[in-house]
Amino acid sequence: MSVFHYQNNILHIESMSTRVLALDYGTPLYVYSRQAIEQAWHGYADTLGDRGLVCYAVKANSNLAVLNILARLGSGFDIVSIGELERVLAAGGQADRVVFSGVAKQADDLKRALQVGIRCFNVESLAELRVLNTVAGSMDLQAPVSIRVNPDVDAKTHPYISTGLKHNKFGIDITEAEKVYHEADRLPHIRVVGVDCHIGSQITTLEPFMDALDRLLQLVDRLADQGIVLEHLDVGGGIGVQYQESDTVPALSDYVSQILAKIGKRPQQLILEPGRSIVAKAGAFLTKVVYLKETADHHFAIVDGGMNDLIRPALYQAWQEIKPVKQRFGESVRWDIVGPICETADFLGHDRLLTLQQGDVVAVMDSGAYGFVMSSNYNARNRAAELVIDGDQVHVARRRETIKDQMALETILKS
Ligand code: LLP
Repeated sequence: MSVFHYQNNILHIESMSTRVLALDYGTPLYVYSRQAIEQAWHGYADTLGDRGLVCYAVKANSNLAVLNILARLGSGFDIVSIGELERVLAAGGQADRVVFSGVAKQADDLKRALQVGIRCFNVESLAELRVLNTVAGSMDLQAPVSIRVNPDVDAKTHPYISTGLKHNKFGIDITEAEKVYHEADRLPHIRVVGVDCHIGSQITTLEPFMDALDRLLQLVDRLADQGIVLEHLDVGGGIGVQYQESDTVPALSDYVSQILAKIGKRPQQLILEPGRSIVAKAGAFLTKVVYLKETADHHFAIVDGGMNDLIRPALYQAWQEIKPVKQRFGESVRWDIVGPICETADFLGHDRLLTLQQGDVVAVMDSGAYGFVMSSNYNARNRAAELVIDGDQVHVARRRETIKDQMALETILKS
């Protein structure tokens, strides 16, 4: 059974009524299920067994409590900034299970990551490799490196989240990679440990992953023939999730077993960097209907959560299911669920068949990934609170922001 379910017509998360949570903690509000996060993580870790390491992509949801749940399970982490590294460490994560991706790592970032002893730098350009060599040299260290290659594979996902095509800014062109490995091998403060690639997010078929893996393995074998034997193979993010009924997503077990079958007897450890598929289904975004507004051809439900809280619908035209927190059985109407922001892009869903009244709370489902982390203070709105639910226990993972919090870093002119 999903951790979200109706009991006496009220949507529950684990044993807690979302209606009570909305009343007690206010809206807009993010709620996450600890159980769902743990189950999703185990889905990866248990199928991988001792063949590899799950490095949760922190960007999907970097709340300390969420990271702490994963750190307690022994997860690794994929980070893209020093902010994410410090969050992982503060949440109890182990530095030697951290891999560091990102195209713009600067000398200070590299230095800090070397200081704490991360597992691997996923290097995305020759220029970065050389800076890393210099920084590691100044610390009298050798930096463990994996080259992120760009395999030029179409992930067939939204263009904004497709990353493995030749024209994308990510990674090193696979045709150039061999040369870069040889340079890395010669640099005194670099230790070559792996290869890495990430072709995009919300990928719903296995073919693009497998195409990329084939190309990666050809490279791995060529390098081995030339005396560069890699310790690990990092194939990037996880599989897509089912946002709507018509979405078909591959089974996780098929994904992992097909990868392992392709790797075969090669000695490399496997690293996966799933984000969305660990946390998306664990979370919902609760928002209250402030007003119902009927125009000649539209029914608007104006809610108190907007694109500043959950930008996926506006930015990627993403569809996420919207459920009533209290099921009503009157006449249903097709509603546009829109927020308070002064932009027409400010919607959470269009054309949703629901029975609504003013004051009702609705839940935007599957909001645990790329929800709160992409939120902002646009229109000077306080960012939402975040709760982690564990059975009937509520943990305030982040309190609601106040106007004072928002202004704390700013000053007016002295004269
Ligand atoms: N590793 C790297 C290097 C990545 O860039 C990403 C995601 C991941 C792992 C995790 O991929 P996942 O398992 O979550 O598919 N904001 C967008 C998604 C951006 C994904 C960026 N990279 C959205 O809301 O759909």
